[in-house]
Amino acid sequence: MSQRRSNGRGGPSGGRGGGGGHERNLARPSGRGLTVRVKTAGKRTVSSTRWLERQLNDPYVAEAKKQGYRSRAAFKLLQLDDKFHVLKEGARVVDLGAAPGGWCQVAVDRVGERGKVIGIDLLPMDPIPGADLIQMDFMTDEAPDLLKRLLDGGLANVVLSDMAASATGHSQTDHLKIIALAETAYDFAKDVLAKDGAFICKVLQGGATGELLKLLKRDFADVKHVKPPASRSDSAEIYVVALGFRG
Ligand SMILES: C[S@@+](CC[C@H](N)C(=O)[O-])C[C@H]1O[C@@H](n2cnc3c(N)ncnc32)[C@H](O)[C@@H]1O
Repeated sequence: MSQRRSNGRGGPSGGRGGGGGHERNLARPSGRGLTVRVKTAGKRTVSSTRWLERQLNDPYVAEAKKQGYRSRAAFKLLQLDDKFHVLKEGARVVDLGAAPGGWCQVAVDRVGERGKVIGIDLLPMDPIPGADLIQMDFMTDEAPDLLKRLLDGGLANVVLSDMAASATGHSQTDHLKIIALAETAYDFAKDVLAKDGAFICKVLQGGATGELLKLLKRDFADVKHVKPPASRSDSAEIYVVALGFRG
């Protein structure tokens, strides 16, 4: 058996590549437990009190901590991959908007030692053994070229984008920003994906807009909108899953 590698979760990876099977990651938190109430105190605003209360009562936050994932978002990718099986052993993965690194941890686990994982984010990230992480704005002209160089000139099997610009509070502006990120991610994906590759990208409810959806349907055999159970029901986010890149 190949030697397991750590995925930055403080323990050996248990993914397909490590030969350990990944079912243990499937655990859906029960959601039962004490409800923690937080008082608005001192300088804490009502909205930050609500955020703190939600974090403290969120079973995915607790489960992420328990399993050593850096974000509750890790469960969204675990659930998407359990359904679509894109993170195959040996796959080459690019993760756009990777910080703090939950999706990269999942990807490293699942693609194993023969795979490759590259993550990019505006924010700094602590290293994840088995992943190449860069701090850079993906929307700059230089970013796609740098990512291609990190792929050693080869193609990718999976492009993931969980990128989200910080909310302005103006819903139309926020929508335009996320669509711009999704379209740029798609432009990159169609440049680097190998035949049969997959593209998973966060968009807002209502899904990918007409133009992007049209292009995805042209370039991929199968295009779906999916809201994984770990995505908060009060969040407008949804993922477009495009499978079977036609090349
Ligand atoms: C929801 S978080 C990603 C969480 C991540 N999937 C995980 O599991 O830890 C969205 C990320 O997108 C990043 N982001 C937004 N715009 C970006 C851009 N132009 N270039 C790179 N990263 C960007 C943000 O900095 C943020 O860290």
